[in-house]
Amino acid sequence: MARRIELIATSAFGLEAVVSRELHDLGYHEQYSEDGRVTFIGDELAICRCNLWLRSADRLLVKVGGFPAYDFGEYFDQVEALPWNEWLPIDAKFPVSGKSVRSQLHHEPTIQAVTKKAIAESLKKSYQRHWFEETGAEYQIEVSILKDQALLLIDTTGPGLHKRGYRATSGAAPLRETTAAALVLISCWNRDRQFLDPFCGSGTIAIEAAMIGRNRAPGINRHFLCENWHQLTRENWKQAREEARDLVLGKPKFPLMASDIDDRVLRLAQSNAIEAGMGGDIEFKRMDVLELKTSLEYGVIITNPPYGERLGDSESAAEIYDDMADAFGPLTTWSIYVLTSHPGFERLFRCRADRRRKLYNGRIECQYFQYLGPIPPWEKASDRPEMPGNERDVDQDE
Ligand SMILES: C[S@@+](CC[C@H](N)C(=O)[O-])C[C@H]1O[C@@H](n2cnc3c(N)ncnc32)[C@H](O)[C@@H]1O
Repeated sequence: MARRIELIATSAFGLEAVVSRELHDLGYHEQYSEDGRVTFIGDELAICRCNLWLRSADRLLVKVGGFPAYDFGEYFDQVEALPWNEWLPIDAKFPVSGKSVRSQLHHEPTIQAVTKKAIAESLKKSYQRHWFEETGAEYQIEVSILKDQALLLIDTTGPGLHKRGYRATSGAAPLRETTAAALVLISCWNRDRQFLDPFCGSGTIAIEAAMIGRNRAPGINRHFLCENWHQLTRENWKQAREEARDLVLGKPKFPLMASDIDDRVLRLAQSNAIEAGMGGDIEFKRMDVLELKTSLEYGVIITNPPYGERLGDSESAAEIYDDMADAFGPLTTWSIYVLTSHPGFERLFRCRADRRRKLYNGRIECQYFQYLGPIPPWEKASDRPEMPGNERDVDQDE
């Protein structure tokens, strides 16, 4: 019988609502979310499905337990008392990694060592053994102590979910696949609308959009750490993978468009798209943003132009934003979404955004500026409710 398992999907700060909506669309419901973690209940199949489908989350973890932790003695007892034998078989390999933030128990190597010992003690009692060889499947234990609250977790994912397997090489300042997917999921783009990224670099946003357009599970071509766990049966994986294959849609109405001024990164983008199986869905073109001209309507631009922080300097970024204002100005029916950390973006682009959202590109704090064009005649406003967590421009809304 399926178990009721407490699961946590982790994400970059600011993406919790996006992950939560993804979970909802998969049929799971958030219990609570905080600081890059969304907690929900699922079963064994949920572990397979969420790893295969979540686009904006970093990892999926099993929550074994959580409790307040102020001293190592009590911490040891609490960890030992958790039901480790429900997860770890007798031959489990169980490395422990730990982090502590603003807590009395703060020495991470000691936290790791005490946790390892407490789990081993727990297993000794369960399996009536004194020694464990750890030659079997890997159960990576993660301890997180935040403001004296300990969480004991087991990673199901292995290499982060952003590792879709299509990006062997990247441009100079690539966006994480999970962040790129989130930009698309926050936007109003759907497979019936034109898509354009005029600063596509290694093509991450276009590739993620193409996969969303095809309803293709981003993890379909990769493996996960928990695939060797005995709790997840072959049948679970078969069912989850078959479902993912069955749900793939045909080509969207229009090819997605991606352009960049730099030939070298375009070649990279093209090979990444082919690797992702999306080569036939995206048209790449060498183009300076200033050359952008189109008579198409109701399209959506989702882009990550230079910030002046990593690529070039602030003045050259300013010139690019000025060019963007000229190029995008005539696109009165389009919606435009721009991720940048440049503090003067709205001034240089000569337009205040309808919505903003704080997001991180790696460690760089950015704003996601959202300019909402009119709804196309074939869509209803209710087709896609707004993603919670956007800051609105009050002057424009009232
Ligand atoms: C921040 S990177 C985009 C990274 C991309 N999102 C990715 O995941 O690889 C910005 C890109 O803008 C391109 N670029 C700079 N100036 C441009 C211009 N005037 N017109 C078009 N592309 C430009 C650069 O070549 C670079 O690839």
